[in-house]
Amino acid sequence: MTEEEIQEEKFPGFDPKIIGFLCNWCSYAGADLCGVSRYQYPTNIRNIRVMCSTRIDPYLIISIFKTGADGIFIGGCHIGDCHYISGNFHTKNKIALTKKLLKEAGFEPDRLHLEWVSASEGERFSQVITDFTERIKAFGPSPVTGPNPDQKLLANLETAEAAALEFRLRALVGKEYKIINEGNVYGETKTEEEWEELIDDAIINEYARTKIIKLTGLQPYSVLDLAKELEKPTDVVLQHVVYLRRKNMIALDSVEGTTPKYISLMEGGK
Ligand code: FES
Repeated sequence: MTEEEIQEEKFPGFDPKIIGFLCNWCSYAGADLCGVSRYQYPTNIRNIRVMCSTRIDPYLIISIFKTGADGIFIGGCHIGDCHYISGNFHTKNKIALTKKLLKEAGFEPDRLHLEWVSASEGERFSQVITDFTERIKAFGPSPVTGPNPDQKLLANLETAEAAALEFRLRALVGKEYKIINEGNVYGETKTEEEWEELIDDAIINEYARTKIIKLTGLQPYSVLDLAKELEKPTDVVLQHVVYLRRKNMIALDSVEGTTPKYISLMEGGK
């Protein structure tokens, strides 16, 4: 059996829907060269031209996955070649953050792919798109599409989408270049490893807090019930609840026996 036949047996009739965002100055020109040079690549990708790859926001990527894309491809100039100097450095950070958010939500992060393709790399563009399409075919259809979408995963993606809009994550992703290369207002810099740790911590916390706000927006929840939903230890969830209460984002709703229950003040809570 060939690889193609195995895939067809596993996912009959699967024809991936892939969205591509290509920067105007390199990858889009590379795609153009690919076309005029008559190199072939799968027709599953729908390319959208943007002025710079950094225009693509984590929030937008997660929204597109929510609406049923099987894969998303981002193409930009090679590092050092961005028409806007540091745009693709920000792209690299944004995509890394988005992949971590997707992973936190339980969605396959490798359905999102970033690649640098220059205007002269027409043949390489064809190869990169062919490889990515094959990878998506191997993953199969997105679990949030089809007649029976995974509702839990869909809710998790909604949480990740909302977390991507949070000020802290947006501020952090925009400052990485400056803090690593130039330092903060006190001239203090961080290594890439230290920054990774900071971002990982921020993503895990923002995702959990956003989930708590969403859940308590639907009905009052105890810390124990929240811990079950979040699949996190109760002491960790309690810390988030204390944080959110201090920020006036959730409030005590009632006490059942000796168990306090909390409700959101952000999404239709009292
Ligand atoms: Fe190509 Fe910025 S212009 S990545």
